[in-house]
Amino acid sequence: MAKLKLITFGCQANEADSEKIAGVLAQEGFELTEMAEEADLILINTCSIREKAEQKVYSLLGTFQRLKVQNPRMKIGLCGCLAQREGTRLKDRFPYLDLLAGPGAMIYRIPEMLRGSPAPPVLPRPKELLPLYIHSPRPRRESLFKAWVSIMEGCNYLCTFCVVPYTRGPERSRPPEDILAEVEDLLKQGYREITLLGQTVNAYGKNLKPRTRFSDLLRAIDALVGREMRVRFTSSHPRDLTPDLIEAVATLKSICEHVHLPVQAGSDRVLARMRRLYTRQQYLERVGALRRAVPDIALSTDLIVGFPGESEEDFQETLSLLRQVRYDSIFAFKYSARPLTPAATYPDQVSGEAKTERIHTALQLQDDIALEKNRGRVGTIEEVLIEEGPNPKMQSTATGRTRRNQLIHFSQESLVPGDTVSAVIAEGYSHYLKGKIP
Ligand code: SAH
Ligand code: F3S
Repeated sequence: MAKLKLITFGCQANEADSEKIAGVLAQEGFELTEMAEEADLILINTCSIREKAEQKVYSLLGTFQRLKVQNPRMKIGLCGCLAQREGTRLKDRFPYLDLLAGPGAMIYRIPEMLRGSPAPPVLPRPKELLPLYIHSPRPRRESLFKAWVSIMEGCNYLCTFCVVPYTRGPERSRPPEDILAEVEDLLKQGYREITLLGQTVNAYGKNLKPRTRFSDLLRAIDALVGREMRVRFTSSHPRDLTPDLIEAVATLKSICEHVHLPVQAGSDRVLARMRRLYTRQQYLERVGALRRAVPDIALSTDLIVGFPGESEEDFQETLSLLRQVRYDSIFAFKYSARPLTPAATYPDQVSGEAKTERIHTALQLQDDIALEKNRGRVGTIEEVLIEEGPNPKMQSTATGRTRRNQLIHFSQESLVPGDTVSAVIAEGYSHYLKGKIP
């Protein structure tokens, strides 16, 4: 058997892509290995969203080049967003690269590329059909009970900071029958949780005929999985958090009580320059509607600090938004100028020191809020899916996630990954809970 070393950077869509790559290459006779030295093929699944991940890829390529000098039969390839964006320019810079493939549907062309047909990455066309699950090699999934299910690709928003529309192309949705076939397959294999994935997952279905709304898809999935599976979805765009979707989250039992709703900034001036297409007030109204329908819903978000032109007052508005919404968790990023994006050319870039200071301030505030919220949950009973066994570092015997997507550690009970249990929240911290089985 040939050996494949696969390294993944970036978002959940990339993790899902890597499972598909491993599935496609398993059909070609490749098995995964951890050790680069023994690999016949090294593939780096790259991310282009922030500069840091890109730098790591370039330094890894240097390391692997040295291995290839020792073992000339070894092949090295790049896939994902960086490969898409840089294309054949990478070949000029790294002549020993054997393969370049973009993200998403390009994965299914890797075998022909390996056989020597060099196909430089091209951006998918708006109406390009996504490969059908029923006819494609099955992904080689990492977990035996949690699975990603990609339901759409690309993004039609053009936030001025974001490279995704240029690397993953315009929005395309998979036909509902194909998604349901995949979910049914997972159900049969005993999977306990699925996460529906898309760059703007809740914009799903706009290009489908007949038009299927995201809430229609959720209904169909809920009818199929009943109480057998938990259903999550990410990431949602605030503009597409429509009343029918809120109602679906409120009424469908399989849908978990958690929405990831990236806000990016709290100041209207910055939101407009980011081209997010909502105001702070409009965002807060959507959050209000969601909380009225599902009072205990968990909310998480993405934030960018130091977007070009962000003043100290603008940043204070982001802090005040954090205090107002009281998220359960946040991901905060320092703005990173990306090629091809409009914001990279804005003249008023914020200094590195200001970004560092702002991100620390935002994360500290969020830690305080989450600590208070999580302490407030002590005594409640929540459904937990156990995901991992003992973790000596955390001195825990098992770790899982609540339906609200909070990490929860156990210290006495021996629980088996894949099990669903009812747990009492015993302690609350900023980033996790501790639980007991009553
Ligand atoms: N809708 C996508 C967003 C992809 S990018 C999704 O599925 O999550 C993920 C997050 O990275 C964004 O929400 C944003 O907060 C952050 N991000 C994107 N571009 C960035 C940039 N140029 N600099 C810093 N953070 C960025
Ligand atoms: Fe990026 Fe904005 Fe789309 S953050 S993925 S362009 S919604």
